[in-house]
Order: sequence, then structure tokens, then C-alpha cells
Amino acid sequence: MVDIKEFQKRIVVTGGAGFIGSNLLLYLVPKYPDYLFVNVDCLTYAGNLTSLRSIESTTNYVFEKINICDRQALEDCFRRYDISAVIHLAAESHVDRSITGPAEFVNTNVIGTFNLLELALERSKAAGHFRFHHVSTDEVYGSLGPTGYFTESSPHRPNSPYSASKAASDHFVRAYHKTYGLNVVTTNCSNNYGPYQFPEKLIPLMVRNARAGLPLPVYGDGKNVRDWLHVQDHCRALDLVFHKGTPGQTYNVGGHNEIENVELVRMICSVMDELLGEGPREELITFVKDRPGHDRRYAIDASYIRQELGWEPSLTFEEGLRQTIQWYLDNNDWLENCISGQYLQYYEKMYANR
Ligand code: NAD
Ligand code: DAU
Repeated sequence: MVDIKEFQKRIVVTGGAGFIGSNLLLYLVPKYPDYLFVNVDCLTYAGNLTSLRSIESTTNYVFEKINICDRQALEDCFRRYDISAVIHLAAESHVDRSITGPAEFVNTNVIGTFNLLELALERSKAAGHFRFHHVSTDEVYGSLGPTGYFTESSPHRPNSPYSASKAASDHFVRAYHKTYGLNVVTTNCSNNYGPYQFPEKLIPLMVRNARAGLPLPVYGDGKNVRDWLHVQDHCRALDLVFHKGTPGQTYNVGGHNEIENVELVRMICSVMDELLGEGPREELITFVKDRPGHDRRYAIDASYIRQELGWEPSLTFEEGLRQTIQWYLDNNDWLENCISGQYLQYYEKMYANR
């Protein structure tokens, strides 16, 4: 049993079993041995505890299987660990799923965030301090034309049920600062890539299909632009903003790394041809029906976080993409377990008797 009094800060990280959450915990848990990290995650299809194997027995890490829509369970958890901060990543995160089933997005992304804010406020009043870091997306700003960038003052103009639910959560976070004085910071980040991303998202999906010789489905004309950032650089930004960000402020985080989807898929093919031989895998590219309401272009102006907190991306896209492809090739079991659903049994196996 953990002795919570040993720890200087006790932080709930929601969604810690997801892609960014896992990478964040793998980064923060060894870096801050004086903090206790409580991973609150209900393990949807996107929650994969096998990604966290290397830290699961660490003394400053615990896992709690809790749905953030369950207010009572959250409250018990906050009390049990005397929580002093939240880094909130739990969300339904996939745009295509939000189009076919928006209800879960409203529940988790809006109601779940509201529950966390309520508890944070309660504890902030009781303890006199609390930190709430809301992890959000550039998709709340809508779509750009061929020029210009999203800044922190760009209006929220969400186009998908996913981005609408994230925009709503951003507004609640802002309101809890303005109205109740809760100590909040928000980060709005561009597209992340790197290890442990669920293979419904563009890069791991393309790597898997290209390896298996399956079609590479590019939506529409393939000319939609995303601004890619390696997940480790996002995690460094989250660490900085959590510790040093000004209460009430929003920070945009992006890689200044715009690329058209079809061009990115071609890059993946060419790296894989080089690493695995055979090919050309480019011939597998298949243009398919477009995503409804598909945002054309995202691009982040990250000058505020650079100037205020000295954050810069550390990896070039070429380096990061090559490393990422190599990681998925080296960890083919992880990828295939996602597809087969085998990772879902891990919780039962590891935690059933704890
Ligand atoms: P993900 O889908 O990989 O992981 C989401 C995690 O949240 C999973 O572990 C899932 O089990 C958990 N979860 C979902 N609903 C829950 C609930 N009701 N209660 C408790 N846990 C729940 O997502 P991700 O890509 O890691 O994104 C994490 C956060 O970062 C999200 O808030 C997302 O909006 C934001 N974000 C993502 C990106 C990106 O490119 N992936 C970019 C910017 C911002
Ligand atoms: O911008 C940040 C957002 O990035 C996050 O908030 C979301 O959680 C995250 O999922 C991501 O959203 P996108 O919709 O941009 O990511 P996705 O990987 O689904 O798609 C990237 C682009 O590739 C997008 O323009 C759609 C296109 N695409 C995607 C898939 C899965 C394809 O052309 N084919 C595909 O099979």
C-alpha cells in the first residue's frame, strides 16, 4: 500500500493508458520520484496497460480503473490519495468514431471534464491550492485555408463532434478559472505521432497496412494538411506548462511541420521500402471516400510557448518518423495485439487480485 504522505505532489493523470498518457507517464514517473502519479483510466478500446509495463511496479505510480463519468468513484479516488493536481487527457479521441457515434464523446469529453473540474474546485477550496491542466487539441479552432496559423486567440470553430466536445470542455475549463478562480492551464496541441498510438490513427494504420501489403486508404484527394509533432516533444511541453504555465492561460503546441496526408503516406512507404526491401509500397495507396466535414488544414503558431517557457520541438519530422516506423516494426506484437484485442485481457491478468 502506498504511503501518500511521502509524496510532495499527488497527481491524477486521466487517460494515462492511452497514446499520449502512456508516453507522458513513461516520461514523468521516473523524472519525478517525489510525486505520486495516479493513472485514472476506464480502459476503453484505446486504453492499453501493456504500454506501461516498465513502470507498473514503480513506487510512485498506481493505476485506478475509473470512468471519469462516475463522479462518486472519482471523489473516492481524490480523497484516498489526497490529490493536489490533475493532468487531464482522458477523452474519446478519434474523429471518425465521433461521426458514427457522438454520444460517448459528449459523455467523456464534456461531462467527464465537468466532473473533474467540480472535484478540483472542491479540493482547491478545502486545501487552498490545486492545479488543473487540461490537455486539448488544435481541432477546436476549425479549419485553415492555404495560409495563416492558429494562435491562442483564434476563435473556437469546431467542425466534428469530437472537436465540438473538446471545444466545450475547453470552455468549461476557462469558465472555472474566470468564475471560481480555479488554477487551470490549457494546452492545444497539433497531431501527435510516436510509439503506442492506436492503429486507427493515420501513421500506425499506414505502417501496419504497408507491412502487410494491404491498401493504404487516403481520404478524399489526400491534400488535407496536418502539423505533426512527436509525442515526446508534446510531453516535454506538458511538463513545462504544468509546472510553469501562468494560471488561466492557454498554450498552443505544434511542430511547425505541415505536410499533406498523401505526401506523408509516400514518405512512410519510402522509409519502409528502404528498411524492409521490396516495394514500391506507394503502389498500395488507394484514394477512398472523404471524411464528412474533413478539416482541410491545421497549423499551429507556437511562438507564445516558445517565448514564455522556452519550449522548442527537439526532433525533426524525418528523424521522428523514421524512429516511429522502426518502433512499430520492432514492436509488431504490440500492434497486432491492438488489432486482435488481446491487450484487453491484460488488466484482468495483472490487476484482478490486487
Ligand atoms: P487515446 O484515445 O489514445 O487515449 C484516450 C485514453 O482515455 C484511453 O486510455 C481511454 O481508455 C481513456 N478514456 C476514454 N474515456 C474515458 C473515460 N470516460 N474515463 C476514463 N478514461 C477514459 O487518446 P490520445 O491520442 O492519447 O489523446 C489524449 C488527449 O490528448 C485527448 O484529450 C486528446 O483530445 C488530446 N490530444 C490528442 C492529440 C493526438 O494527436 N493524439 C493531439 C492533441 C490533443
Ligand atoms: O490535430 C490534433 C488531433 O489529431 C487530435 O485532437 C485527435 O485526437 C487525433 O486523432 C488527430 O486527429 P486527426 O483526424 O487529424 O487524425 P487521424 O490520424 O485520424 O487523421 C489524420 C489525417 O489523415 C486526417 O486528415 C484524416 C486522414 N486519414 C486518416 C485515416 C485514419 C486518411 O486519409 N486515412 C485514414 O485511414
